Amino acid sequence: MFMAALSPDAFLLTGRVAVVTGAARGIGLAIAEAFAAMGAHVAVCDRDKPDRDSPDRDKPDGELAMTLDVRDHLAAEVFAQAVRERWGRVDVLVNNAGGTFHAGFADTSARGEQTLIEENFTQVTGMIRRLLPMMGTGGSIINVTSSEAHQAAPGFAVYAAMKAAVESLTRTLALELAPQGIRVNAIAPDAIRTEGEAGVRERMLARPLPHELPYEPVRVPPLGHLGEPGDAAAAAVFLAGDAARFVTGTTLHVDGGINAAGGWRRT
Ligand SMILES: NC(=O)c1ccc[n+]([C@@H]2O[C@H](COP(=O)([O-])OP(=O)(O)OC[C@H]3O[C@@H](n4cnc5c(N)ncnc54)[C@H](O)[C@@H]3O)[C@@H](O)[C@H]2O)c1
Repeated sequence: MFMAALSPDAFLLTGRVAVVTGAARGIGLAIAEAFAAMGAHVAVCDRDKPDRDSPDRDKPDGELAMTLDVRDHLAAEVFAQAVRERWGRVDVLVNNAGGTFHAGFADTSARGEQTLIEENFTQVTGMIRRLLPMMGTGGSIINVTSSEAHQAAPGFAVYAAMKAAVESLTRTLALELAPQGIRVNAIAPDAIRTEGEAGVRERMLARPLPHELPYEPVRVPPLGHLGEPGDAAAAAVFLAGDAARFVTGTTLHVDGGINAAGGWRRT
């Protein structure tokens, strides 16, 4: 039933139903646009209005765009139900929504920690649990993590731990869902030029952590420049479709070489 992996058509997503969370801007928006350009039906959600040009929920082109916080179980269930009613199935799920703030672990309250856990982990498991019953053979789950999942991350301890948890989840689900023909992979971005990344970086460089945490991130990726959201979207297009039909349980680093460079150094 699959086309040859090397055919250009293997990168197309014609008629596939793709769900992308956190798609109002940045990497999520680029992925949603790339999927649509490759022929997919795309359902998006974001806590900011995901499509500024259309009325909420039902878009004129028949696609779905809903404003909701993915941590809100009831709202996320309404979103899943809307996808079920519209298409009755999901072929691709991209868990992209996520975010962090910059603070040493000692300065992070229990409430702040809980926020990071929900923002970066439990909403991911929740979305998979809700949409999995609609997925079948050829399905692809893509979790957007971070290079911070692969290294120590001073000032981002809980965020990095939750992204690492999602990476672990990715590998385990890859095995659990392989018999059903569903692939599960991660994209670990870094230094992709987005509002979220710029905000965190600006605050981090403007207000370094106290002297007892004398570390700084690699400021310039080995490739010499920042990446664009489209760079992560290209990886998502690959992982979503038949070109990646033999790829599961792995992570694609889209970071200009930052992970290879080890990420952080002592000042
Ligand atoms: N840009 C990078 O270099 C980089 C680096 C590491 C990890 N990431 C990860 O990539 C993903 C996208 O990041 P980005 O740089 O595009 O960030 P961004 O802040 O520019 O965009 C994130 C989008 O997700 C939405 N969102 C966040 N939390 C949400 C929630 N609880 N419910 C609904 N919507 C929510 C935001 O409103 C926003 O539209 C995130 O998971 C982030 O952790 C990005």
